[in-house]
Amino acid sequence: MAQTRRDFIGMALGGITAVGGVYALGAMKKSWDPLPSVQSAGFVTVDVSSMNEAEVRTIQWRGKPVFILRKSADMPKNPARDITIGEKSFVVVIGLCTHLGCIPSWAPATKQFKCACHGGEFDASGINTFGPPPRPLDIPPFKVSDESLVLGEEGEEYKKMMKKA
Ligand code: FES
Repeated sequence: MAQTRRDFIGMALGGITAVGGVYALGAMKKSWDPLPSVQSAGFVTVDVSSMNEAEVRTIQWRGKPVFILRKSADMPKNPARDITIGEKSFVVVIGLCTHLGCIPSWAPATKQFKCACHGGEFDASGINTFGPPPRPLDIPPFKVSDESLVLGEEGEEYKKMMKKA
């Protein structure tokens, strides 16, 4: 009788171990496969079709602010940095000052990105024009998809832009 009970307990424990093993394998498999949220976390798609001229939007991308500006007709064109979608021109830059990393703000009156930390200024294309910033605002990888910008993906327009830079 005792033997039978021990057998039963042994079988039951063995069963639990086997089930536990299957769960552990499942957990390991899950950690090997990238989670869907992680796969998509690096990409942010922004529909820019409704943006007005001179409008600036700030998007969070990989923990950084990204400014998207739709240029107005009176803003100087910059073929090296402008993104053309149909008749519209956009500028996409990482919103971190290239001096020490403060977040500049858009000044509509002067059509500049201004950094309050040490007075750095960037024009509407993100080119440094005044103060200590040593270079233009960085351009994040992007792809044009219809009237959307996919941040984080290196599209043809981005690759061409980087070749010119
Ligand atoms: Fe922007 Fe110094 S951090 S000017």
